[in-house]
Amino acid sequence: MKILIIGTGYVGTTTGLIFCEMGHQVTGLDLDDRKIQALQRGELYFFEPGLEDLLIKHVQSQRISFTSNTEMAIKSHDVIFICVGTPQDLDGSADLLYVKNVAEAIGQYMNSYKVIVTKSTVPVGTAELVTNWIKRQQPVPIPFDVVSNPEFLREGSALQDALRPDRIIIGTESEKARTIIKELYQNFQCPIVETNLKASEMIKYAANSFLAMKISYINELARLCDKLGINVNDVSTGIGLDHRIGPHFLQAGMGYGGSCFPKDVSALLQTARQHDSPLSILEKVVEVNKDQSVYFIEKMNRAIEGGVKHKTIAVLGLAFKANTDDTRESPSLQLIEHLLQAQAVIRTHDPVVNMASKLPQFSTIPETVSDSDAVIICTDWDDYKTLDWAALKPLMKQPIVFDGRNMLNRAEMETLGFFYHGIANY
Ligand code: UDX
Repeated sequence: MKILIIGTGYVGTTTGLIFCEMGHQVTGLDLDDRKIQALQRGELYFFEPGLEDLLIKHVQSQRISFTSNTEMAIKSHDVIFICVGTPQDLDGSADLLYVKNVAEAIGQYMNSYKVIVTKSTVPVGTAELVTNWIKRQQPVPIPFDVVSNPEFLREGSALQDALRPDRIIIGTESEKARTIIKELYQNFQCPIVETNLKASEMIKYAANSFLAMKISYINELARLCDKLGINVNDVSTGIGLDHRIGPHFLQAGMGYGGSCFPKDVSALLQTARQHDSPLSILEKVVEVNKDQSVYFIEKMNRAIEGGVKHKTIAVLGLAFKANTDDTRESPSLQLIEHLLQAQAVIRTHDPVVNMASKLPQFSTIPETVSDSDAVIICTDWDDYKTLDWAALKPLMKQPIVFDGRNMLNRAEMETLGFFYHGIANY
């Protein structure tokens, strides 16, 4: 099948390459010429482990090609995936401008029956809007169907998630379109949930919000465990083994960040408010997440004599989580903001992210921790799991370590003479 992917970000590119793996012919369309040229050369313009090898493979096999010619691309494909971004609007709702532009272009240029699939995370009711946007632009009525097929890709493991999804959601009111999209996914070994458009759109928001809720739950519980001297990691293990709860997304940390959870929770809350059906649990999820950096600052102020004011703090990790160069809504940046407000002096490090133009950033960890009154680990990069703390200690002004990801072993750190502060990590 010939598939057009509109939007070549990490969702679009990953989706396109997975379809190549399944034997389909794929074209990637993007308005940004530089991105198109890079991808066509087999160069990924964003960081996503493993993806570039697959890109090179399929550019060479000519199973994937890239273009910025919207009209040609739309005319020559019958299945079109919309994978453009839906950033957060000022009121917290999803901004559908890019989706609208794409839908209008499809309406303007389509010349035969098409199946239009929304992969972008879009609020309930968007498929209906897409249908209207397309119809309004059509010079003459041409039939088409809309399908909602949300993605569940995590940055940093997008490839694995796309190759081995837990489930595939196909929401549409059209039997014809359903059959076409099911055929596309016929080689995947996972359940397919067939539903209507609105339920499919809701599934994506409900899933991400549920996961965000798990994280806020364990983070708030960790604060209580901290007061009681209970190891929250044991609690996570103990409850996670109950198959009704499950072990994932119970890692206490700095709070959730990234391009999806904060934006999707906020968009679902906005939908709930618009329909006068509040989701009060989710309101609290957001509040708890915001408070997590405050909890941390308070912890630091208590642990460092005289508090963080005028102290040098080495911040390890800027990305919102490991294996990505994404800093959107990064808990690390939120913490840095609090530290700067409290007049702390910051030194930062990240193995991939480069923010040296905005923050004092060092390329090695010894340089970063030099002369610091405390080190704080903010991102769960593997590099930070195996640091030679014995060698770093003499470089620091004070041997204080805050572990925002519970990655280190308290006993080992204490044996080395550090004052160690995790998140209820006993
Ligand atoms: C998420 C969803 O997992 C994915 O299905 C969706 O399509 C996009 O949004 P992503 O934002 O890439 O993916 O990251 P994810 O791995 O889910 O982590 C989100 C945040 O939660 C990160 O800040 C991470 O550090 C944090 N997290 C995750 C925790 O604090 N504890 C956990 O146990 C798990």
